[in-house]
Amino acid sequence: MENFSFVNPVKIIFGKDTIKKISTEIPSGSKVLITYGGGSIKANGVYQQVSEALSGFDTFEFSGIEPNPHYETCMKAVELIKQKGINFILAVGGGSVIDATKFIAAAACSTQGDPWEILSKGRKITNALPFGTVLTLPATGSEMNAGAVITRVETQEKLSFSSSRTYPKFSVLDPTTTYSLPIKQIGNGVVDAFVHVIEQYLTYYDGDSLLQDMMAEAILKTLVIEGPKALTEPTNYDVRANLMWASTWALNGWIAQGVPEDWATHMIGHELTAFYGLDHGQTLAIILPGLINELKEQKAKKITRLGKEVFGIEEDHAIEQTIKAVESFFEQMGVKTHLSDYNLDEEAINKIVERMNQRGWKLGECRNITPDTIKRILISRK
Ligand code: NZQ
Ligand code: ZN
Repeated sequence: MENFSFVNPVKIIFGKDTIKKISTEIPSGSKVLITYGGGSIKANGVYQQVSEALSGFDTFEFSGIEPNPHYETCMKAVELIKQKGINFILAVGGGSVIDATKFIAAAACSTQGDPWEILSKGRKITNALPFGTVLTLPATGSEMNAGAVITRVETQEKLSFSSSRTYPKFSVLDPTTTYSLPIKQIGNGVVDAFVHVIEQYLTYYDGDSLLQDMMAEAILKTLVIEGPKALTEPTNYDVRANLMWASTWALNGWIAQGVPEDWATHMIGHELTAFYGLDHGQTLAIILPGLINELKEQKAKKITRLGKEVFGIEEDHAIEQTIKAVESFFEQMGVKTHLSDYNLDEEAINKIVERMNQRGWKLGECRNITPDTIKRILISRK
């Protein structure tokens, strides 16, 4: 195991009927901006619960944050914050609303240059407004991490940042808020959480990191057991609770400590979303099986371990069987795994490879995934 130092300061408030607890988590006298998306929270009663809990506060609203949130939209919220003297933000929604809120919180305190440079140049965030979250979609882990991914429509770029200043102060995880999720979003969320674990677990590394490995496998198994049940039993509380907590754990930082991380599937997937608007989970379901296959020698020991511990595969050809099992699981969750399923062809492959060439990135835990490797991965996913 490698050396590490780590802190995760996010307070988690988990369970039924917990939204009301936000009233004691937000400093009294705060001017609160409630950020949300396209209105799902109005249809499922979450908005009502948040409004009641915030009745003692001076509140404002900013709605219309889109999936794969736009920089352009975030900047409108920053204007409102400055105009009204808002000093606390409450994000109510999925990863997109939470990510947008992280960027808004940082951009509202940015005093030099264009806040886009936080994303494009990795400019350090020195201050951000405090914010909390009410999570309604288990997937990204954004509720308990410091990262965010923002899209700039104008340039078709989807970029990420992370800062110790952009951890939520608290996150409310009430599994009943997820009963209203469309089937598509349940599938996307399970695939996203699954791939988060894989990015931190399925590497060349065969050092002595038994606890991280076994924690990763526990999260993956939970997703494999409970994911399909959520599709057929949408109001099974325990299934929803297990999925919500597993998704948070998939990307709250703990399983990444002391081990190398990959993240190439995400980086390639972000380009598919930036150019073609695919859902985040869909992009991962396309790329991951191809990436594992391409790197099967480098990652051989961990692939074999994944097959045995998560999918119960012990026979010959365990590596091929495991890659198939991963792909079948994504399909079982209703998320298609080939470019052609989304009407994408050679043109998309060329566009992504060209951008990777421009960026000059070398991806993966060994920094050996070049544009040529990416081309082979994409061709294998036609
Ligand atoms: O906009 P509303 O009306 O709220 O509807 C949303 C949206 O249309 C809907 N939804 C959310 N909760 C619901 C619900 N519908 C019914 N009932 C509910 N309870 O679901 C749709 C998708 O929401 P979105 O927030 O976009 O999904 P998700 O949570 O998957 O977030 C995806 C974004 O997170 C980023 C992705 O790149 C993408 O932009 N990620 C963030 C990460 C992080 N911060 O650590 C890591 C991830 O790898 C990921 O990249
Ligand atoms: Zn993800």
